[in-house]
Amino acid sequence: MKECIIKTEKLTKVYKLPAEQIQAVKDIDLEICKRDFIAIMGPSGSGKTTLLDSLGCLGKITSGKLSVMGKNVSQSNERTLVSMRRRFISFVFQDFLLIPSLTALENVELPLYFARVKHDRQRSIDLLQKVGLGQRINHLPKQLSGGEKQRVAIARALATCPQVLLADEPTGNLDTKSSQEIFDLFKKLNKEDGLTLVVTTHNPKLGSQANRIIYLKDGRIVSPEESSLHI
Ligand SMILES: Nc1ncnc2c1ncn2[C@@H]1O[C@H](COP(=O)(O)OP(=O)(O)OP(=O)(O)O)[C@@H](O)[C@H]1O
Ligand SMILES: [Mg+2]
Repeated sequence: MKECIIKTEKLTKVYKLPAEQIQAVKDIDLEICKRDFIAIMGPSGSGKTTLLDSLGCLGKITSGKLSVMGKNVSQSNERTLVSMRRRFISFVFQDFLLIPSLTALENVELPLYFARVKHDRQRSIDLLQKVGLGQRINHLPKQLSGGEKQRVAIARALATCPQVLLADEPTGNLDTKSSQEIFDLFKKLNKEDGLTLVVTTHNPKLGSQANRIIYLKDGRIVSPEESSLHI
């Protein structure tokens, strides 16, 4: 049987603003299993980031059920959510979010420092080698291309050995060639290391390279035919 990492039932997230309530995702039923490589696609505002953040325990869901590694965290407080994130989940973002004053290697080591995990430097070097940056470990972010910066962010995300990597528009700031290289890396990590990945993208050509595509429209999962992005 496939090992389930994240499971949702009727997951709903409403943003409560002073003047209005925005139902960003609604009634999401989803199972993310070990070794899955899932793309979340949909137009701007369809709820991709909100869903990804909810899956990653970034903020409380409004209703429905969310389980991570078998633990029901639907009603959990922020402290528990932080702990679940630290133990099981890593994020990669569109704008890389590297620390400008730290080298590639130091950026990769940073989450281990925060997690107070004893680590050996060689493992971080190995991670940078795995993402193809063995020759760039002492470079600062400003000395790296966009694609290389995103590779550092991916190596950093892998440093804590997450159960799942959640990437929000990881190629949004990259040109076509670098975007494909990032997806090639995702495919390699998924195939060779069994890494579980959930990636949002606007790009159908990239999304179609995942093993499964989830289409969102107005915060709900829709069939490929109902989605304007069907490929
Ligand atoms: N923090 C927030 N507070 C209030 N409303 C929000 C917040 N974040 C997102 N929204 C709203 O929730 C809906 C879904 O937004 P979300 O960012 O999840 O969409 P998205 O599919 O990621 O869009 P994009 O492709 O532009 O990144 C939108 O209507 C958005 O305006
Ligand atoms: Mg988004």
